[in-house]
Amino acid sequence: MARVQRREARQRLYRASRIGTTFARIYLGTKTQQFLDRASIESEAQKTKRWSRFHRRSGQQIYAAATELRGFILKGCQFLGARADILPPEYIQALSTLQDQVPPHDFGEIRSQIELELRAPLETVFRDFSKESVAAASLAQVHLAQLPNGEPVAVKVQYPEIEELVHSDLANLRALFKAVGLLERDFDLIPLMEELGHHIPLELDFVHEGINAEKISEFFKDRDDIHVPRIHWETTSRRLLVSDYISGMKISDVEAIDRAGLDRSQIMQSLAEAYCEQIFVHGFFHADPHPGNLMVRPIPGDKTRGQIVFLDFGLAKQLPPDFRKNFLGLVSSLISGDSEAMSANLLDLGFETRDQSRDSLEKISSALIQLSRRLRHQTYLDPEAIKEASQELPRLIRENPIVRIPEHLVLLARVIALLSGLGRTLSVKLDMLALILPYAALGVSRTSPGNETTRPPSE
Ligand SMILES: Nc1ncnc2c1ncn2[C@@H]1O[C@H](COP(=O)(O)OP(=O)(O)OP(=O)(O)O)[C@@H](O)[C@H]1O
Ligand SMILES: [Mg+2]
Repeated sequence: MARVQRREARQRLYRASRIGTTFARIYLGTKTQQFLDRASIESEAQKTKRWSRFHRRSGQQIYAAATELRGFILKGCQFLGARADILPPEYIQALSTLQDQVPPHDFGEIRSQIELELRAPLETVFRDFSKESVAAASLAQVHLAQLPNGEPVAVKVQYPEIEELVHSDLANLRALFKAVGLLERDFDLIPLMEELGHHIPLELDFVHEGINAEKISEFFKDRDDIHVPRIHWETTSRRLLVSDYISGMKISDVEAIDRAGLDRSQIMQSLAEAYCEQIFVHGFFHADPHPGNLMVRPIPGDKTRGQIVFLDFGLAKQLPPDFRKNFLGLVSSLISGDSEAMSANLLDLGFETRDQSRDSLEKISSALIQLSRRLRHQTYLDPEAIKEASQELPRLIRENPIVRIPEHLVLLARVIALLSGLGRTLSVKLDMLALILPYAALGVSRTSPGNETTRPPSE
């Protein structure tokens, strides 16, 4: 026992120092680049080239650390790699491969892991099994196989050592948050930590993932533009998930989507509607829409429209009924432009500013209402656009920062950030207000907050 603890402590220390040195290298590098900028002996073109070289190198360093450390660190880097709306393209290029193309594990190890889960030799369960993985990501790698009846299936196998790594990352993260909490007494990081601490271990249970997948599949049974692969329960267990194999394009593969003659705006619209449906109507949603988890293919039977295939339901969130009701209220007051109602909603949701006053929340609400009107046709919320559309909001937040963000909002914010990155990648603009309007009407008209079957009125 003591030996295991010592090994874990050593591992934690190594991971922390590897992260620390990578961060320090990039931080000091940025400072050096900024110093060279000020020296101003280069032309603009030379400067741009120098920064681009630096970003490319830094992207490669983060990639190397992420593929070596895996676990939660890799998940964090995947998130960064999906933020084309905020990060330079050099980072996106290096980090987007972490979404599904991490170097795979040796097949011998993977076979043992599968057979341990199946409690049977591989050959007795599958007619055919490809030794090469079709994809590999943060927790697992996926192999194409055939069931005895010839059906192609995706076999997702959890990496053997991943549970230990994830727990060690959580411990590191807790320590980091504690340290930041001491320095930044103003900002309450506990909700963030609680939310991550609750969801991360759940991701390691593939039975839980399969249940989530079926729940969300049920929401979309009447829509042909959204698909969830069917789970094969007879061969699924905690560390092994077997589902229908889907052949499609990665949603961020703009060239392939264009080549297939699919309309990117329709794809983004379908995806945005799918999220409104999950969040506003059902209060339960897939919380990890990075491009590695979303595929696109022509709708079987209607080749002109794209179908979104949701993968990877490890991270899903159930919103408590009260929270969903307040969130709906927030969105409808944002749309109707009622800053007083909106500040009441923010308060009910659990937001707090430093001075704790209702007045400050009302000012922030007014600025947010203005911002949403100016950015109405913008799918992605990059900082430049926000800066251009509102000087008011950053000033208000600087003067009186928000010190507490409710825990239930953490994964919602993650979804919005990832969809914003995707909007940028696909370069489409949607009328977000028009899209949300029918759902927001639920916030005004609803009578029973917990009602799972409430649907938006048709337009
Ligand atoms: N049913 C399927 N059909 C085809 N390919 C699949 C299927 N399921 C998964 N994949 C491929 O395998 C990759 C990894 O699967 P998945 O996203 O479930 O693993 P993960 O390790 O939990 O990912 P993440 O790093 O996003 O947490 C996906 O990005 C996708 O490319
Ligand atoms: Mg994934």
